[in-house]
Amino acid sequence: MLQVTALPAEAYFSKRRPKPNFPYFGLHQRRLLVPLLVVVVTVAVASLLSIISFHGLLKLSNTPPVQFVESKLNTQFTPSNTLYLAENISTNNKAAAGQTSMVHPPPSPPPPSLPLPPPPPTTDATGGPYHNWELFSADFNEMLTNLKIFVYPDVFTKKHSSPSAPIFLPHPNPLHPKLGNYYSEHMFKIALLGSSLLTTNPEEAHFFFMPFSINALRNDPRVRSEASIANFVAQYTARISWEYIFWNASEGSDHFYVFCHSVGRDAASKHQSLYSNAIQVTCSSSYFQRFYVSHKDVGLPQVWPRPPEEALNPPDARLVFFAGRIQNSQVRQELVDTWANDTCMDIFSGNPPFPYEEGFRRSKYCLHVKGYEVNTARISDAIYYGCIPVIISNHYDLPFANVLDWSKFSVIISHRDIALVKRILLSISRQLYLRMHNNLCKIRRHFKWHTTPKGYDSFHMTAYQLWLRRGIHGLPY
Ligand SMILES: *[C@@H]1O[C@H](CO)[C@@H](O)[C@H](O)[C@H]1NC(C)=O
Ligand SMILES: *[C@@H]1O[C@H](CO)[C@@H](O)[C@H](O)[C@H]1NC(C)=O
Ligand SMILES: *[C@@H]1O[C@H](CO)[C@@H](O)[C@H](O)[C@H]1NC(C)=O
Repeated sequence: MLQVTALPAEAYFSKRRPKPNFPYFGLHQRRLLVPLLVVVVTVAVASLLSIISFHGLLKLSNTPPVQFVESKLNTQFTPSNTLYLAENISTNNKAAAGQTSMVHPPPSPPPPSLPLPPPPPTTDATGGPYHNWELFSADFNEMLTNLKIFVYPDVFTKKHSSPSAPIFLPHPNPLHPKLGNYYSEHMFKIALLGSSLLTTNPEEAHFFFMPFSINALRNDPRVRSEASIANFVAQYTARISWEYIFWNASEGSDHFYVFCHSVGRDAASKHQSLYSNAIQVTCSSSYFQRFYVSHKDVGLPQVWPRPPEEALNPPDARLVFFAGRIQNSQVRQELVDTWANDTCMDIFSGNPPFPYEEGFRRSKYCLHVKGYEVNTARISDAIYYGCIPVIISNHYDLPFANVLDWSKFSVIISHRDIALVKRILLSISRQLYLRMHNNLCKIRRHFKWHTTPKGYDSFHMTAYQLWLRRGIHGLPY
């Protein structure tokens, strides 16, 4: 560090200054200073002269190069243009950021040598479609002995006692072919009423079931529209909070309702504590749904009622099957545009030229492609017929995903990789395919409903999701 020795003030003014203690400022350097000063002064004078002549030029003529310099200076420093410039910089930065962002890939077509995304199913040494079978089955058994669910008594009203009775009563014929996609909603209620988890003592209940049916509301000419359904549901919730003490005790957090019809997605929208606290058990379980709260709400498998199917053999005939209406779905449109004429894939917009079930039976992979909504029974159809589901529905909260390891019996492909579907599926080895098929056969039982719940069926698996959400703090009654 430079050591500076303080000098007495008068020393600066005396003719013979004492030698300062600057280490690099000796006599020799002082001699060098003289020519240095001469150079500096010369440069200063020269530049002063050039500035004077420059201004003189400005005054004398309007030659283009000078005008250019002047106008450039002016545009750069007016405030409005500074703002403009800043905007340009920020949009340029955004454009640059977009090119490296994972979320927004560049719109330019992928290079021909694009590598495949990571192989969907991991090599699986231990087999097994579960994250941890031992932990799950032990906890599941504890649920079977301990979980208690109370149902509001509207579910027991006499059929003709009130015009709204059919909204709450269990469906008289859940196998009615018209129920189709909404079968799971009705089967949950029927199974609960026949289940050992049902309690008539609300004080011992972990959960309270609100038994309105969105499917019945949808078909009731007095209600029908989504807005009226939300009004009905809000009024019903207000009513039970006046008539019973249980809602207020937890602000609805231990209450739940079940639906499979997509019009139910806004059913809670007009009751704040209903949509923020109560549990939706729904087939429309997508992270992008406005009123779907992942981790709080529960994905319900959408199951089509079908007669029992024979033992399954892995098919060899066709690689892929999909048939469905385009329904304004960009994803389905892209799929059909890309693959409709492929010789080893059966992809149809609308009905196939053979029975629908046949497509599932004879194909190795069956596509579940987001339509207007995520929910259709295609995944459980594929599971039912022994066809590996290929899920092209971004951000679908798959049923029972905290128990089932979906990567062991299905393939999940992003919307943006539709062009790679064939390559991805062909890259799965025969051995891996057979292992996935074997896993698929093991998890079929979770996608079946019974009037009286059995084992690991859809009802008990859904109840288990509630069990995992128990332990809600409520005020004493
Ligand atoms: C900002 O960018 C636009 C379009 O790229 C261009 O026309 C405009 O001159 C730029 N503005 C400035 C101040 O650079
Ligand atoms: C629950 O709270 C609401 C609003 O605070 C109140 O109007 C209602 O009477 C309460 N219900 C019961 C059963 O006390
Ligand atoms: C498939 O073939 C039909 C009939 O030959 C043709 O009209 C259609 O454009 C083709 N589609 C694609 C995606 O190649």
